[in-house]
Formats: sequence, structure tokens, C-alpha cells
Amino acid sequence: MRTRRNFLLAAMRFGVGAASTRVLASRSVEAADTQPPRTIHLEAREVTWELAPGKTIKAMAYNGVVPGPAIRAREGERLRIVLKNSLSEPTTIHWHGVDVPNPMDGVAGVTQRAVQPGETFTYEFDARPAGTRWYHTHFDEHRQMDLGLAAPLVIEPGRAAPIAYDREATLVLDDWATGTGTPVPDTDAGTAGGRGRAGGMMGGGGMGGMTGGRGMGGMMRDGVEPAYDVMTINGKAYPATAPLRVKRGERVCLRIINASAEHTHVLRLAGHRLAVTHTDGNQLETAVEVDALPIAPAERYDVVVTANHPGAWFLHCTQPGHVDAGERMLVVYEDHARVTPPAPEPGIGSLRLWEYGLGRGRSVLPIATGETRGVMLTLSGGMMGSDVWTINGKRYPDTDPIRCRKGDRVRITLRNNTMEAHPMHLHGQSFRVLAANGVRYEQPTVKDVVDVEAHMGSAVVELVAHNGGDWLFHCHKPMHMMGGMVSVVKVG
Ligand code: C2O
Ligand code: CU
Repeated sequence: MRTRRNFLLAAMRFGVGAASTRVLASRSVEAADTQPPRTIHLEAREVTWELAPGKTIKAMAYNGVVPGPAIRAREGERLRIVLKNSLSEPTTIHWHGVDVPNPMDGVAGVTQRAVQPGETFTYEFDARPAGTRWYHTHFDEHRQMDLGLAAPLVIEPGRAAPIAYDREATLVLDDWATGTGTPVPDTDAGTAGGRGRAGGMMGGGGMGGMTGGRGMGGMMRDGVEPAYDVMTINGKAYPATAPLRVKRGERVCLRIINASAEHTHVLRLAGHRLAVTHTDGNQLETAVEVDALPIAPAERYDVVVTANHPGAWFLHCTQPGHVDAGERMLVVYEDHARVTPPAPEPGIGSLRLWEYGLGRGRSVLPIATGETRGVMLTLSGGMMGSDVWTINGKRYPDTDPIRCRKGDRVRITLRNNTMEAHPMHLHGQSFRVLAANGVRYEQPTVKDVVDVEAHMGSAVVELVAHNGGDWLFHCHKPMHMMGGMVSVVKVG
């Protein structure tokens, strides 16, 4: 758990406390140029990491911790991040959800040469837009991300947070294939936010996609896909997860980041509702109260919990097997340390679940000044356990790029012909989610990942291209990405 205290520790470590108090009048102001950048050092190296007592693995970590150290910045603050590669293989860092200049995007082979063992590379960019962002390796993701190279990047708004809270914590969810436990059942065929079919995410289904020999070096199920057997919150599996201590009456902001390779999680806090305030870091017009929060790989949600039910409770995942694999943590009220929490309830029965259509997004994206174009992308592959995943029948790098100019509005319709959900992520700029599964949303949310539901699910997203360069648009499940489900949006 990265409690406020830990944030402060991290802040001292990185000099965040000295962060500029400059207030940006608007996103377009380049005030950052007038201040020297703040330098942060990250070292990628192998570590021995204890996920839980008896579950010690060889991991890859930034600065020796899993997840890596949380970076906190003010919106518009200029960051200079020096990556030292102490691994025995190349690596890079991608700043997920940040509108960085293209050469800073961290995609090996596209925006930069991979950083070789022993080398350093300096990333420099203005931290924007505000919100819960994250950073992770963009080299051999199916190994390096699975082994721990991921961390939070929280950009605080230049203006005071419009949603007040008393305490905050960042929760990084991750899945691991360690060979130390029972693999979780394969229930990943569903989706997170679209949810055209109720219960879709519990519907079982596709084993597709994984082939032997390309796994992360952990245990493989049936020799074809990594056998995920440990689920962590901030690098620890229960009972090693750090409890979150709260006081009655407090409002607690949880920034939830799903760094998992394969799994959608459906989070609940027993005894409490979750008020969703941000989708992938972007603020909603009003908070949306739900009982449980589905979160697909690479998605982030900020939720506010009102601590109005004193006791000790589990925050946990309701997906089958995830609690047993470690995905739970205690939330304990002051003076309730000795209370026994009720056991996590499985299933999501009659609960109100978050879905994209519940959110009303704010119009924070630029206004289109150019042409409007439509693109249709059909996602296929994974048939009969194949590791080939395609967009319009082609595998990256043979997929057709999407070309546009700055100011153009690009509407992308995604259709999923496969048995698995695909959390599609766009680099360099966020988009609005206009529709999913044939349902149009009145006031689309702003995101940088859209989970396209399995079995003929669909989604429509719209971006206004404002950041020049070649930007990856890809499935965030690393095995699917490696299998070819990648396209490039070229903003000229
Ligand atoms: Cu979060 Cu291409 O990545
Ligand atoms: Cu996918």
C-alpha cells in the first residue's frame, strides 16, 4: 500500500516536496520552459522479491521496488528522468497516458533505440495532463512488465483538486505466474467497462492466444499460457498486503492501476460503495457510485470511499480464484484493529457494477479544426490457441497505419471477432469513448484504454489528433501485442 506516508517518503526521495507551486492558466501554456526540469533517477535491475511469505521470485524492478517508485508531479512541471539500464537485456520506459513528445514515448524500435545494458537514457517532458498515469517498460513487455517493471505516475492538477479527500492511496494490481500456487481459473474472456452482456466477464471462454516458448519464463498452464497463480496489490499478495488505515468520516481517494498482463479485476470494498471520479486519470463531471469496479489491463480508475462504516473490511477482487491468489487487503478503521473482517464474498450477483456508459466525461480534449475521418478496425486471431493476433487481417508491422493531420478528428470503430477482450491503448493522446456494443453514450468519458468485449463486442472511440508523431495503438495484453495486434496512428 502506498499510503500518504509512503507518498511523502517517495516525495522526499524524489524532491517532490519541492515541486513548483506555479499554477497553469491553461493546458496550452508552456510555462514549464521557464523552470529547470526536476531530475529523477530510475534504475532498472533484477531483484529478489517476496510477493508473500514463501513466494519469493526473481523480478525486475525500478529502484529495487515492485511496483516501481511512484512519481508525483504538478501538471506542466518539466521532468527529466534518467533511466539507467542495469538489466542484462535492453529496456525502455513508456509514460502511459502522458502527452509526451513523440521521441520521449519509449517505444523500442519506433520512437527510440532500446536502451542497452549498462546504458542510460534521459526522458524529458512536461507532465500533462493531470491524473493517474503510470510508467512501464515497452520492451519485451510480456516478460519485463510481467516481472515488475511498472509504477504509478501521478500528475496533480494545477488547480486544487475539485474533489476533496482526506487521504489517498495508490493501488497497483498485478498478476504473476510463479509456479508457487494454484493457477486462477481462466475467466478472462469478458470485459471491464463496456459490459453489453451482463455477467460477460464471468462467462468463461477463450483460452486463446498463448503459445509455449514465448512465456515470461514462469510456469505455463497446459504448456500454452502463463499459469497465473499470484495476484498482488502493490507488489504483495495477502496476507502480505499492507493494510489501509482510515478514520471514521474520512474521504479516501484510491487511485487504482491495473498493471496485469492478462486479467480484468472486479474490485469491491466490503461494507462500502465506491464513487468513481476519474477514468484513466480524466475527471468525470460527477462521481458515480457503484458496488464493484471492473478494471481491465492498463486501465486506471480513481474512486473515493467515504469511511462511514467502522470496522475492518477486505478490499478484494470478486473474480474467481483471485482472492485465493492474494488479491485482497485490509481496510481498518482506527480503534478497530482487533475486529475480524467478514470473509470476502465471491460473485457480483446483484451488485451495481461500473461501466463506461455510467460516466459523464468532461470536454477536455482539443477542438477539431481539420477533417473528420472514420476508421474501422476488426480485431481477430487467437483461433485454436494460435498466438497470431491481427487488425484488419494483418499483423504488426504489416498493419495499415492510420494517417491524419494535427487537428483532425479520427473516429475509430473497433470490432472484436475473438474469444477474448482486448484493452486497446493509444499512445500520445487520449480519446473519448463514444459507444460500446451498439450503445451510444450521451456524454462520453475520456480515456486512453478501451476494453473491447469478447465475442463480437465493439467500441467506438474518437480522438482529436494534437500530438505529432507515430503513436502505437495496441492491445495492452502483452501476448496479444507481441502476436501482432498493434497499429500506428501517424499524426503528420
Ligand atoms: Cu501502457 Cu503501449 O502501453
Ligand atoms: Cu488483446
